Amino acid sequence: MHPLKAFILSSSLLTGSVLARGRTLYVSHYDGHIYTLKFDPKNPDPNTSLTLSNTLQACGSMPSWLELDTYTNTLYCVDESGTSQTSGNGSLTALDITAPKKPRVVSETETLAGGVASVIYDAGDDEKFIAIAHYEGSSLSTFPLPLTNDSSALQTFLFTLTGPVTDPSRQDAPHPHEVFLDPTNSFILSPDLGADLIRIFAINPSDGTLTECDAYKTTPGNGPRHGAFSNQGDTLYITNELANTVSTYTVSYNDNNTPCALSLDLQQEIVPSPSGTLPASFVAEIRIPRHSTEVYITVRGDQSFAPNDTIAFLDESSSATGLTPKNLTSSFGAYPRTLVISEDGCLVAVGNQKSSSVAIVERDAETGELGALLGNLEVGSVEAGLSSVIWGSD
Ligand SMILES: *[C@@H]1O[C@H](CO)[C@@H](O)[C@H](O)[C@H]1NC(C)=O
Ligand SMILES: *[C@@H]1O[C@H](CO)[C@@H](O)[C@H](O)[C@H]1NC(C)=O
Ligand SMILES: *[C@@H]1O[C@H](CO)[C@@H](O)[C@H](O)[C@H]1NC(C)=O
Ligand SMILES: *[C@@H]1O[C@H](CO)[C@@H](O)[C@H](O)[C@H]1NC(C)=O
Ligand SMILES: *[C@@H]1O[C@H](CO)[C@@H](O)[C@H](O)[C@H]1NC(C)=O
Repeated sequence: MHPLKAFILSSSLLTGSVLARGRTLYVSHYDGHIYTLKFDPKNPDPNTSLTLSNTLQACGSMPSWLELDTYTNTLYCVDESGTSQTSGNGSLTALDITAPKKPRVVSETETLAGGVASVIYDAGDDEKFIAIAHYEGSSLSTFPLPLTNDSSALQTFLFTLTGPVTDPSRQDAPHPHEVFLDPTNSFILSPDLGADLIRIFAINPSDGTLTECDAYKTTPGNGPRHGAFSNQGDTLYITNELANTVSTYTVSYNDNNTPCALSLDLQQEIVPSPSGTLPASFVAEIRIPRHSTEVYITVRGDQSFAPNDTIAFLDESSSATGLTPKNLTSSFGAYPRTLVISEDGCLVAVGNQKSSSVAIVERDAETGELGALLGNLEVGSVEAGLSSVIWGSD
């Protein structure tokens, strides 16, 4: 056994299970609502264990992504409304979840178009900020927190294409699809599906402003969408929506004392399936549980478990240069856009866009294998589609 894996195994056995408690989940939905769900782990019937406990119209007309600040009990929601860099008309909403089942809108402000993901970061004297990836808006913006109704962007980065693209229909413009922090919390990375770039921004620790660094050029036609760092912090995995592959990059930091110290080096690009192939489909989310070498990727539209799609399970501990695909299992719904793993590693919540449903799937914290469906609930308008799900902090 790989020594890292042995260490992780022994530490995960100690964490025990918090399965005994009921769990809150929040859902953003393209039907213009934020839903609160409750999962009862003691109820063995997957048809009734997951229930709807609150419906709130908020976050503009296309709520697309949720971010939770557990320290302030604030849920942030970005709205994907708006169709171009100049149209504006997206929004950012802050909700108080002190009463976990009853989110309450505290503040809301306008943003650029097409917000699809956000990340909270720290800087300055205990100050917090949020960065937003704007897909249709071909941009990245940041806001100081706490958010007020009068908040305006601290910074806005507008991107343009600088060269020919591989897939003109999807790569008509830059399309940043996610923003996430590096393991040192000093950089924000943003995979740009339209420009085949991994954009890199250094966080100025004194005031939270970002310095745009040289972007990493991916293999043409990859269409990078989401990313996750290994728990050891030395490897970055990126799902490529257009190539339907996952890339492994080693991460290094130079000591030149310049802000843009992070660099990436490509190691491997594979189809995330044990057979090396997948039916025509689009990979989307990628997640790595805490203390784990296991990697989960959602595959949208392959219908390998018809009428459901697929979750790919991979492991980084058994390869020197990248990932080893281990298994494919059902996403228990259609078009798994997002996937989140519970803090204790025992439960996976899948946000299935086209079936407009959340599936709770059992995860074996020792082997990493996904197992039975523990809960399933259709939420909101199936026509509009569900955009994301996250675990609450209870
Ligand atoms: C759950 O619902 C599905 C679809 O209605 C049904 O086929 C299945 O038997 C139900 N499962 C249980 C445990 O009742
Ligand atoms: C954005 O603009 C569209 C079209 O004008 C409008 O229908 C929609 O309500 C606006 N959304 C927000 C959040 O203001
Ligand atoms: C901010 O806007 C929200 C939603 O429109 C409203 O409920 C709240 O009272 C406003 N806050 C302030 C301080 O005006
Ligand atoms: C598909 O998912 C549903 C829950 O949405 C589940 O009841 C059914 O067993 C799944 N079928 C397969 C083949 O995965
Ligand atoms: C793949 O996952 C399925 C469903 O959990 C399980 O039955 C099967 O044993 C796994 N296959 C391998 C090769 O681990």
